[in-house]
Amino acid sequence: MKASFLDYILRNRLPITLFVAITSFTITFFASRAERDGLGYTPEQPINYSHKLHAGEMQIDCQYCHVGVEKSRYAMVPAVETCMNCHSVAKKDNPEIIKLAQHYNSGRPIFWKRIHKVPDYAYFNHSVHVNKGIECESCHSEIKQMEKVGQMHSFTMRNCLSCHRNAHERLPDVEGIENGPTNCFACHR
Ligand code: HEC
Ligand code: HEC
Ligand code: HEC
Ligand code: HEC
Ligand code: HEC
Repeated sequence: MKASFLDYILRNRLPITLFVAITSFTITFFASRAERDGLGYTPEQPINYSHKLHAGEMQIDCQYCHVGVEKSRYAMVPAVETCMNCHSVAKKDNPEIIKLAQHYNSGRPIFWKRIHKVPDYAYFNHSVHVNKGIECESCHSEIKQMEKVGQMHSFTMRNCLSCHRNAHERLPDVEGIENGPTNCFACHR
């Protein structure tokens, strides 16, 4: 049975193409799956930046750096220029700040490692959530206390839906919150 199947594949080009397509799809699918099941993922970053210090102790507003949250789909991670607003003066002799200044002077961007990510086939939009009064912490946990950012909530479909179905329960402090959509096309466009 196995031999004749192989025989069949070898004699016909189409099934080979199909076989390759299916295999590579499966491999890509599982590889990307491993990548997105990122619960607990807390990577070393190219510069040792602390949210606990900046957003916690110094109380810099999240939106000073994540300028997209109210306006767009993406929160965005700040450019070196934003850091240099302060660090052209503050802590200039700190080795991490020297690295930062080298990026600034050479124009090389910093490749921060991406932590939270939904797969490309799912649609998420920060502004619709944030403008309804949902706090960053509801989805990202206590960033202000993190020396290093890690993913504390999973962004599986089940998790999105469990809030969309019971927004009142999940967000008791947000006044007048409506449930989110549960139809497939809202998130798979
Ligand atoms: C001074 C700038 C600055 C401020 C203020 C700031 N952040 Fe960030 N944030 C960054 C940088 C730089 C990164 C990328 C490096 C890292 O992960 O630490 C980042 C990363 C993140 C990430 C992870 C991004 C990813 O890849 O998934 C989240 C979530 C986040 N910030 C939330 C917040 C929240 C919530 C606040 C306010 C409580 C805040 N940030 C305040 C600069 C800032
Ligand atoms: C609003 C001003 C401000 C901005 C914007 C800012 N910082 Fe800072 N940062 C400071 C100050 C002030 C300190 C020193 C705090 C202290 O030592 O008490 C500091 C300290 C640091 C340190 C050293 C921490 C240590 O170990 O002593 C690093 C690294 C750093 N910042 C990175 C960054 C990066 C990266 C960005 C941009 C994403 C950034 N900062 C944006 C004000 C700022
Ligand atoms: C309803 C849940 C939710 C809320 C509220 C939320 N986020 Fe996110 N955040 C996500 C999801 C989901 C992703 C991954 C999105 C993607 O892959 O496109 C993400 C990704 C990010 C990223 C990295 C990628 C990007 O979008 O640029 C940053 C930075 C971030 N969030 C910061 C914030 C900040 C700051 C706030 C509050 C002002 C906030 N988030 C509020 C769910 C949320
Ligand atoms: C609130 C947003 C949301 C809605 C509504 C939604 N999905 Fe999803 N879906 C997601 C996200 C986010 C993912 C990726 C994370 C994951 O795999 O759980 C996903 C993943 C999937 C996957 C891949 C599952 C896997 O294991 O890889 C399928 C298939 C899917 N959705 C089908 C549907 C169908 C069918 C509906 C309508 C009944 C639907 N989705 C409604 C957000 C949503
Ligand atoms: C903590 C609760 C919560 C979580 C978690 C959450 N959402 Fe939502 N979402 C909402 C609420 C509430 C609304 C409805 C806002 C309104 O009243 O229009 C909404 C609205 C939406 C919309 C409709 C946007 C539009 O353009 O009308 C999409 C799409 C969406 N969410 C996707 C997602 C995806 C994808 C995830 C998971 C990665 C997710 N949400 C996680 C609460 C949540």
